[in-house]
Order: sequence, then structure tokens, then C-alpha cells
Amino acid sequence: MDLKSYLDSMRDTHLEELKEFLRIPSVSAKSEHKADIEAAARWVAEKLKAAGLENVEIVPTKMHPIVYGESLQASGKPTILFYGHYDVQPAEPLELWTTPAFEPAVRDNNLFGRGTADDKGQVHIHIKALEALLRTNGKLPINIKVMIEGEEEVGSVSLWNFVKENRQRLKADALVVSDTSMLAKGVPSVTYGLRGLNYYQVELTGAAQDLHSGVFGGAVPNPITILAETIAKLHDQNFHVMVPGFYSDVAELSKSERKALNSLPWKEKQFRKTVGAPELCGEKGYTIIERLWARPTLELNGIWGGYTGEGAKTVIPSKAFAKFSTRLVPNQDPRKIARQVERHIRKLLPKTVKCKFEVLSTGKPWVAPYTAPIFQKALQALEQGFGKKAVFIREGGSIPFVTQMYDTFKVPCVLMGFGLPDENAHAPDEHLSLENYFGGIRAVAIFYEQLASN
Ligand code: BES
Ligand code: MN
Ligand code: MN
Repeated sequence: MDLKSYLDSMRDTHLEELKEFLRIPSVSAKSEHKADIEAAARWVAEKLKAAGLENVEIVPTKMHPIVYGESLQASGKPTILFYGHYDVQPAEPLELWTTPAFEPAVRDNNLFGRGTADDKGQVHIHIKALEALLRTNGKLPINIKVMIEGEEEVGSVSLWNFVKENRQRLKADALVVSDTSMLAKGVPSVTYGLRGLNYYQVELTGAAQDLHSGVFGGAVPNPITILAETIAKLHDQNFHVMVPGFYSDVAELSKSERKALNSLPWKEKQFRKTVGAPELCGEKGYTIIERLWARPTLELNGIWGGYTGEGAKTVIPSKAFAKFSTRLVPNQDPRKIARQVERHIRKLLPKTVKCKFEVLSTGKPWVAPYTAPIFQKALQALEQGFGKKAVFIREGGSIPFVTQMYDTFKVPCVLMGFGLPDENAHAPDEHLSLENYFGGIRAVAIFYEQLASN
């Protein structure tokens, strides 16, 4: 049977199998899901074996296992390292899901469930593409090494050790990743740039314990007020980040890249609809695409403290907290930025509070030229698989591992994403377009096949 007829005949089987994967609640952030993480790793290992991979291994780490498998039978052909993650974000708030997060369901030609787009659906695309090539040809056209981790959503802590200890084994001509998005429906995309990410937490302490706001209010510091004032000073009215030095190393877009990015088939109307806010905002002097992909930002992610329960409680809290992050672009140095941010915050704070400042993680941005021949092959495969013109894009999200791999192995990194920006990754009602799921399997199979020819 040819590849296309085989894939057409397997649609239902593939979808049912993906649902099985999605039913495993492999939430990496929560220890109560440890057994589910292990089950997801076993599930992936089993499917890699079924796809004809050898030396399939579940590699234990200090945290969550890495699943590895390879097929190195195509002598003289290129070797690809494929990377993805089987862990998912927590599903909360559960009550905002139309159908339960771990009971996958199809509606309007979309598959709903935690991990559909990020990243189980995309990992499954590759496993099924490889299996299809094996079943229709009897062997794989290229050499492939597959590495699926379980800590991506919590910072890939163990992965880097594994890579360093297995440099030789992981050697490849290119890294292929499917953990990003397409520009829009019907616009298959190859991503050549991601922002970096630093994550911070501050804890302000005023009084040694909570105080009655009637007895003490007016004469003691309120850490929530001070936190709010401090946060309000982090941007000016043009949405510039006010941290001294924050922009010093930022690489401006070249004229030609600016033009290319702003001429992509991207619709502001669709973006506004996805966001759903009364009005948009952002850094003055830059288009929305530029703000999202090529400008650094500082975003508050959470703020808490004091009493937030039912009814009224007159209290001056002892502590106030905030979590926030900076998205970084070339050539910002994450550690330097972290120092600048901490210094600035400490400078803004009055003497009335103590501050504990933590940098929870740092991650470099990644932008790389797409001149190697493999990028044109990726574009062609996407165009064949989807029957649509494919484009090169940058994105605002972060995959720190890609930067590390690029810096270490200096090989082309091909990011072909099959998610969509409005598919609610990390949020309730996450979903994956079935058109992109099936199109993705077709495109990836064609891609791996075409890599074997010159
Ligand atoms: N798949 C995403 C990254 C992504 C999303 C890239 C959209 C491009 C477009 C990944 O799983 C993720 O969520 N990354 C985190 C950072 C990570 C260190 C937790 C992110 O971008 O916030
Ligand atoms: Mn992901
Ligand atoms: Mn994610």
C-alpha cells in the first residue's frame, strides 16, 4: 500500500490511540501524578517499539524518566534526533473545561484534552509517521533517534545531564522538534526563533505577623500596597520595561527580516478575536508580530497575599508575593537580565519591607538562520502534507532545550509545529485541530522520506 492510502485507512486507529495517550494524566508539576508520569513513559516506549525503533529505553532520572529509542539501519542516510515531551501542564481550573481534561473528546473537528496540542498530539504525529514508513516500506528511510522527556513543563532539569552524558549517542545531523504552533490554520510553519524565559518570585515581608488593620493601620507598612506600587513602576506608559539596561543588548530586527515577518499571512482581526480583550496594548513603535516574537517583555504571572477568602477580614498582612517572568530575545543574557531585574526591584523598595528575591529558572532565546537544505525540505514536506503554502516564522514561546542543543551540537534545529495559537495550550479546553493532526502525520512522513533523497 502507498503511504497516503495507508494513512487514510489508519485515521480512526491513530485517533483512538492518541486518546489513550491523553487519558494518562502525566502532569509533571505534581508529585501525586508520579505514577501517571511513569505510565506515560511506558506508553511512549511501547509505541516506539511498535513503530520499529530499537534499543528503546526508559531512562530514570532524579525526577521524571526520559524515553529513548533509535533506528540506525539506513546507512549513508541522514540521522535525525527528534525531541518532544510527554508531560503536560496541570488541568486546573477544572470547572472551566467543557469536557474533562483527561477524557479526550472530538467537537467541531478538534480533539479536546490536556496535552492534545502541547505536546502529546505532536509527539504522536511523529511516532505514527515513523510507523507508517516502516509498515509501507518495510524499513525506515533515515536514521532516527527519538528522545521524549517528562519534565519540559517544569524546566527540563534532568534532560541536560542526560544529553551531556550521552553526547555521542545523541549525535545527529539535525534536531527536529514539534512543540510549537503554525502561524494560522492553513499556514503550515517552520519556526526559526523562540524567546528565552527567566522566571522570578518575590516575597515582601513587613510586620513580623499579620496585624489587626484597625489597631495598627496607618502606622505600619502594608506589603501588598508596596508590592503593587513596585510592580506599577516596572513599565512606563509606552509599555517599556523600566529595568535599567534591559534593552541594552537587544538585537533590533534587520530591515529585511522586519519586512518578511510583517508580510506573513497573519490576521490582526483573528488575533484580537483569540485574545478577546476590550483593547490590545504593547510596546510603542513595534507591530504586534514584532512585540510577540522579537521584543523582550516583563509579565506578572501571579500576585497574592493577605485575605482572599469569603467575606471580610480586616488584616494587614505580614507578607505579599508575586511571580513574574521576562521573555528574552537575542542578544540578551538571561543571567545578566536576572541581576538587573533584582537590583532594580530592590532599589524601588522602601526600607519598610524585607525582600526575598528568587530566580526560579533562566533560559536563553534562540534564533537561527534557516539556510541549510533541510529547511527547504521541511517546507516542501509541509506543503505536500497540507496542500498549502508553508512559511518561516518566529514565536514568542520558549523551549530552553532547543537553545542548549543548538549551542552544543551546532546542528540545524527544525521546529515544525502543528498547534495553533488559539488552541488553549496551558489553559482549559486545550485542543488540537484534527486537520493538523492528520496533516501533520502526512507531512512528517513525507519529510522523513524526502530526507533520504538528495
Ligand atoms: N510548547 C511550549 C513552548 C511554545 C509554545 C513554543 C508556543 C512556541 C509557541 C512549551 O511546552 C512551553 O510551554 N514552554 C514554556 C517554558 C517552559 C520552560 C516551561 C513557556 O514558553 O512558557
Ligand atoms: Mn510544549
Ligand atoms: Mn507547554
